[in-house]
Amino acid sequence: MDSNIMDMFEKGKVVKICAPMVRYSKLAFRSLVRKYDCDVCFTPMIIAADFMRSSKARDSEFTTNRADRPLVVQFAANDPQTLAEAASAVAPFSDGVDLNCGCPQRWATAEGYGACLINEPELVRDMIRQVRSRVENPKYSVSIKIRIHKDLRRTVDLCQKAEMAGVSWVTVHGRTAEERHQPVHYDAIKTIKDSVSIPVIANGDVKSLKDVESTYLHTRVDGVMAARGLLANPAMFAGYENTPLECVWDWVDIALEHDVNNTQTYVVYCWKFPKPLSVLWPYLNHHVWTACIHSTTITANLLRPTGMYPGCFSIFVFCLISPLEVNKTHLHVPLWVGSWLATLLALTT
Ligand SMILES: Cc1cc2nc3c(=O)[nH]c(=O)nc-3n(C[C@H](O)[C@H](O)[C@H](O)COP(=O)(O)O)c2cc1C
Repeated sequence: MDSNIMDMFEKGKVVKICAPMVRYSKLAFRSLVRKYDCDVCFTPMIIAADFMRSSKARDSEFTTNRADRPLVVQFAANDPQTLAEAASAVAPFSDGVDLNCGCPQRWATAEGYGACLINEPELVRDMIRQVRSRVENPKYSVSIKIRIHKDLRRTVDLCQKAEMAGVSWVTVHGRTAEERHQPVHYDAIKTIKDSVSIPVIANGDVKSLKDVESTYLHTRVDGVMAARGLLANPAMFAGYENTPLECVWDWVDIALEHDVNNTQTYVVYCWKFPKPLSVLWPYLNHHVWTACIHSTTITANLLRPTGMYPGCFSIFVFCLISPLEVNKTHLHVPLWVGSWLATLLALTT
């Protein structure tokens, strides 16, 4: 069923959005956060040119189902025609398309994708116009997700040009392309909000429902978007301070249903949530993890460890969490060593 995202932006209501996250904001994770008051979800960034080039890429990069709405598909693109073709391919299965103008990674900017587009307002305008003219449904939203310039006037100019070209709404990650963990510039988001009449979404460091409220009070935006906050606590938008156990079990069910092959990663990640792990998580080497965790069936075994491999794996998981939880017992060093031995053993059995 089609949803009109624009109808969700009512005065005084803050729309809660799950950010695009490469590797993470896939169908299974979206199904989880939707159970916990997330209003709109984004797919991970998909490279429009690859998507159009290969049907294999289309099958692997974009999976959805009937319940997965409202859904915004995010593309990386540097050319109006390719973006328009990709948008028209996904339009029947989604409610909006978003252009990534915020990814600061070097490979992306070298290809003309992501954050470098904030310096190309005319190209962004042309991409928006082309999508608008290609997708017939007038309710289908066309949005951009940007980072800010050091000179904020350039960001205001970009957003105003995008608005004139027909963009439906803008998400502002309140950092420059060079900034990583610096504080979010909420004042800049407020200035942008005051300079356009389309809805503006604030993004950056929203980690709880209290942060949602304080971001709204500071900026008066129409919605907030969270990435790492939701990875750490997928139930955050429903007001939970920590991930409830119920949410962990929901994840196990969803992951088994969707045949996600790294269930434990989320189980561990969601579990109670020791801070250092939550900070580390997005940066953990994905391949190391998938090498350790290559089947959903291990989840069931992890919960009832009987065999050698799952046994080793549970030790590994336990040891990973333990140093953070049993600090007071001074066991953490041997446990860390144990964790890596257990991993080695798990990999070789
Ligand atoms: C694991 C991970 C993957 C991300 N992938 C994308 C992406 O595909 N597209 C995008 O625009 N931003 C991506 N981002 C950036 C987030 O959407 C968001 O802008 C940023 O993390 C700041 O929000 P936060 O403080 O709530 O994490 C990613 C961030 C993380 C942590």
